[in-house]
Amino acid sequence: MAETPAKKTAKTAKRRSPTPQKVKKMRDVIQKARDGGDPARVQAHKAKGKFTARERIHYLLDEDSFQELDLLAKTRCAEFGLLDKDIPGDGVITGIGRVGGREVCIFSQDFTVLGGSLGLVHAKKIAKIMDLAYDNRVPVIGLLDSGGARIQEGVDSLDGYAEIFARNVKCSGVVPQISVILGPCAGGAVYSPALTDFVFMVDGLSNMFVTGPGVVKAATGEEVSFEELGGGRTHYEKSGNCHFLANSEQDCFRQVRELVNYLPQNRWEKPPRVANPDPVRRTTPLLEAMCEVDPRKPYRVTHVIWQIADEHKFFEVHQGFAKNVVVGFLRLGGDVVGVVANNPAHKAGALDIHASDKAARFIRFLNAFNVPIVSLVDVPGYWPGVEQEHGGIIRHGAKILHAYAEATVAKITVVMRKAYGGAYIAMCSKYMGADLNFALPSAEIAVMGPAGAIEILYSRRLKAASEEEAAKLRAQLTQEYKERFASPYQTASTGSVDEVIEPSQMRFKIVRALRFLKDKRRPGEVANRGNIPL
Ligand code: HXC
Repeated sequence: MAETPAKKTAKTAKRRSPTPQKVKKMRDVIQKARDGGDPARVQAHKAKGKFTARERIHYLLDEDSFQELDLLAKTRCAEFGLLDKDIPGDGVITGIGRVGGREVCIFSQDFTVLGGSLGLVHAKKIAKIMDLAYDNRVPVIGLLDSGGARIQEGVDSLDGYAEIFARNVKCSGVVPQISVILGPCAGGAVYSPALTDFVFMVDGLSNMFVTGPGVVKAATGEEVSFEELGGGRTHYEKSGNCHFLANSEQDCFRQVRELVNYLPQNRWEKPPRVANPDPVRRTTPLLEAMCEVDPRKPYRVTHVIWQIADEHKFFEVHQGFAKNVVVGFLRLGGDVVGVVANNPAHKAGALDIHASDKAARFIRFLNAFNVPIVSLVDVPGYWPGVEQEHGGIIRHGAKILHAYAEATVAKITVVMRKAYGGAYIAMCSKYMGADLNFALPSAEIAVMGPAGAIEILYSRRLKAASEEEAAKLRAQLTQEYKERFASPYQTASTGSVDEVIEPSQMRFKIVRALRFLKDKRRPGEVANRGNIPL
């Protein structure tokens, strides 16, 4: 009987398909590589309460979205018997995956394999994934847990770091870069996260330092613990190297996913618009009450941000550091904006060295990635003092001016209360290039506050008066000064403020302005590229 065509095709396919042995071998090889370090190492790692490198990818990415590359890459270094050792994946897992349905490139260092140390092949794997991110315009996420440069590989491992640093800089301002520190990150290795846009750490689990406690003691005599020197809380609150501090790895991955939700994939795109039921005309009556309180009374500016934000949601960045300025992401009418706000609850909202650096870097990120900037102003000035002057408040403060002036994205400024002196300009005043400037009726815009101004303007009269007369005179002059400057109307008459707005309309006014500015272009203006660490 003649063979049917279907039978013939099945027979040919069987002849051509890999033999079961070959497939089995492939599966074995892959499984062995996937298992990571030896079981004792994995057990010790998990006993510290840490996820494995592979589990971390699983928890961070969308389900089943991870596709691994270079699983079978091996070191070519023959020193210290490395070729005879089993070093799965050369200590790092790399690949592509999705977060919230959008593509990302990812790497995850495996501490169970030679302490996650970075040899040349390990570095090349990371470099390849960064190149893929750059060429395909998707964010890159690094999960770091490593003893640093692999000692056995000598200069090759240092060169490997150099390849990564160079790519961090190439990707800067092109695709968002996120570093998640989930163990040690020591020596020069810390400079890769420092070159990325956002750094996450987990309290009690992550460390970053250029030289560890041992070297510090030998060099300076100071005794300090790992945690105190370079733990998550230290970097979150003191050094500012860390933008987000999580309580656990799960909490950390949740925060990373939330951040990605506010970011565009690259510098050519806008962040994803997410429609929501919050009416753009929702009034903000709380702000009306705020306008009436004593101008010296502190308040947390996050309350204002929650009032205006869609569904009262605000994703704060760098929350633990330089609390006198608050920065972060929110949606207004469904579109993502970045907010930069003085926070009177801390140092009266004045700008100091750390606050200047924090704000400037965030503004540069927003500008590089097409995110409009909303500035909420309530600033008495720059923070005074010898420490600040000697610490370089002049050059640090200049960074905010530079960042705002070079930003070509839509810029909307609302003066809510005090806006004195250079700090008024630094917070994106009209002639620093803001597109639309609003003021609440409580705005006070002046060269300086009443107390300082009276002493300078009337010093001769005050000195000539008796103590009693001087006190009376001071009260009278202060009142006159306030009448002149403690309102926005003088400024509005010059055009430095476009509109004095009803506080209850603040949300709507900003959304309306954003919609008008959505396709803003100024001929000849070129957006800045890199997001240099500040
Ligand atoms: C090779 C390393 C290594 C490294 C750790 N290991 N760091 N192997 N090169 N840099 C290995 C250990 O030998 C050990 O191997 C395994 O990883 C686990 O390390 P342990 O010390 O047992 O773990 P733990 O007690 O948890 O301590 C972790 C650690 C410590 C704090 C990270 O290993 C450490 O201090 N490592 C050195 C950190 C450091 O100074 N790095 C900077 C290098 S200079 P076995 O075989 O026993 O399992 C640098 C410069 C980069 O990175 C410059 C870029 C420009």
